[in-house]
Amino acid sequence: MGKLLSTPLHLTPVKGIVCCYSATGNTRLAAEYVARHLGFEFALHDVRNGAPDFSNYDFAGFASPTDWLEEPMLMRSFMRSLTGVNGKAAFVLVTHGGMPGKTPASIARAATEKGFVVVGCHVLKAPDSYPPIVAQGRPRDASLPLESEMRALDDFISGLRIALAGIADGKEAVPVIVKTPFAFRIMPSLSRERSKKAQGPKSVDAALCTKCGTCARACPYVAIELSSTPAFDEEKCMGCWACFNLCPTKAIYAGKLRGTGHYKGPLKRYREVLSK
Ligand SMILES: Cc1cc2nc3c(=O)[nH]c(=O)nc-3n(C[C@H](O)[C@H](O)[C@H](O)COP(=O)(O)O)c2cc1C
Ligand code: SF4
Ligand code: SF4
Repeated sequence: MGKLLSTPLHLTPVKGIVCCYSATGNTRLAAEYVARHLGFEFALHDVRNGAPDFSNYDFAGFASPTDWLEEPMLMRSFMRSLTGVNGKAAFVLVTHGGMPGKTPASIARAATEKGFVVVGCHVLKAPDSYPPIVAQGRPRDASLPLESEMRALDDFISGLRIALAGIADGKEAVPVIVKTPFAFRIMPSLSRERSKKAQGPKSVDAALCTKCGTCARACPYVAIELSSTPAFDEEKCMGCWACFNLCPTKAIYAGKLRGTGHYKGPLKRYREVLSK
């Protein structure tokens, strides 16, 4: 791991808010790690609860997974809903399973358009939560995050800490330029329809369903209604697989994926390292 600064660099109290979307916990753990090691007071805000009042905070963070090479629609609508920010410092944190695509630059651009000054951006490779990939077996995911990635994350936090402390002490916030690598720039955007089509319609094994309601609570797009068993509104569904991944009895199935391919939450090493 990199060397994290352990003594406060500033005299002014600094308070931040980290706005996070995390379907299965990878991004949340990473956001908590960053916020904790920054050493400033912070609040963790779930973007599903709508736009917060940023006037109570000195800086903001935006943390998101990657969904089909972009930020999830929920994160996109959240960023679009923000108002009333003028020159506040912010950072972007993205987790991904190997191809972050346009996500970092897209969130950074949205934050800038809303009046934030993005002073840092970091991308962390995490175990993949996309069921068709999980079903193939990804033994290497168990060793994530790699030591080198943790060093890079810690270096990012140290740099961000210095920048935020300087801003709190009156220095001007200096924006970073977040670019999408060429390979991802030329890849076409994959539509919501494509992601839904790839998933296929979902069904529930009534013999396994305990009617616990986890799927309906997990659905970020309010596409599940609980009657006798969950009913899916395929019009509202974005094919995000959160219900499938989080169903405790693996009762939900789609296409060829039945009883396999679930990402139940951060793998052991990822959880342990990011909980430090
Ligand atoms: C529907 C879906 C689409 C995904 N698309 C991508 C992708 O395009 N590129 C990538 O690297 N990872 C992709 N992933 C993997 C996640 O971005 C990654 O596992 C992330 O850390 C999950 O974060 P969370 O646990 O906070 O939800 C996808 C996962 C899901 C469920
Ligand atoms: S999460 Fe699974 S067990 Fe619970 S209501 Fe939904 S389908 Fe049934
Ligand atoms: S129904 Fe399931 S796959 Fe569709 S948006 Fe909701 S949680 Fe995601």
